Amino acid sequence: MGTVVFVHGFPFDGSMWDAQLAALPTGWRGLAPHLRGFGDAPLEAVPGEVPTGADLGGDVAFPAEPVLPMELLADDIAGLIEREAGGRAVVCGLSMGGYVALSLWRRRPELVRALVLADTRAEPDTDEGRGNRARMAALARRSGAAAIASAMLPTVLSERTLGTRAGTADRVRDMMLGTAPATIVAALAGMAARRDSRPDLPTVDVPALVVVGEEDTLTPPDVARALADGLSRATLEVIPDAAHLSNLENPPAFDAALARFLTTL
Ligand code: MLT
Repeated sequence: MGTVVFVHGFPFDGSMWDAQLAALPTGWRGLAPHLRGFGDAPLEAVPGEVPTGADLGGDVAFPAEPVLPMELLADDIAGLIEREAGGRAVVCGLSMGGYVALSLWRRRPELVRALVLADTRAEPDTDEGRGNRARMAALARRSGAAAIASAMLPTVLSERTLGTRAGTADRVRDMMLGTAPATIVAALAGMAARRDSRPDLPTVDVPALVVVGEEDTLTPPDVARALADGLSRATLEVIPDAAHLSNLENPPAFDAALARFLTTL
């Protein structure tokens, strides 16, 4: 009984959690906000509230371009939990949403009743990873969200989803197409600059569920296992027949894993 706040991945929006909102066990309420800049959420409600490439350094965003640090997104989620969840919630983040959830734990642990970390990792980007982000940012500036969608779709979905679940693949593509290039660049720069969360894992003293699609190649099962091993109170659930977007590719298995976890709280 309580509230689950779902935090979406990149470059998606809160609607990626529609199936989970509909399947929550009785007594649980779900909130699935669009992170700033995604869906119809403005990047900046107050001018100057989002840092720029000049503030953050790094070579993913140009000096005048906005950047979305994970800390800023975590503070937005903190505000939501304070306003709409009575000050404490289960926080479920997928991939970038997991980076945000771990940042929220670091900044405001009192707001986190339990953590669900799906298809994500505690490690920061490698130099190679940051180089890839810079190339993706250049692609987004040059060719827009359509080029990002074409590049990313085969990496986030399993071959089976791509080949046989046209509705799911179309929804994922549409979410990506709906993300403005400025947000894509801002989030890429924010993810490239994110901290190493591994030192924080031993401090997590709330129950945690680590979830991973068994065919996830971006954050593979061994990465999820290492994440679960770093947490003192974690269980690991491997979702069959799913890659990186495990909640969208196999909602029944994801929802069942989440429900099992919620009943333990
Ligand atoms: C996501 O799904 O949020 C992204 O794959 C995260 C990332 O690029 O690190």
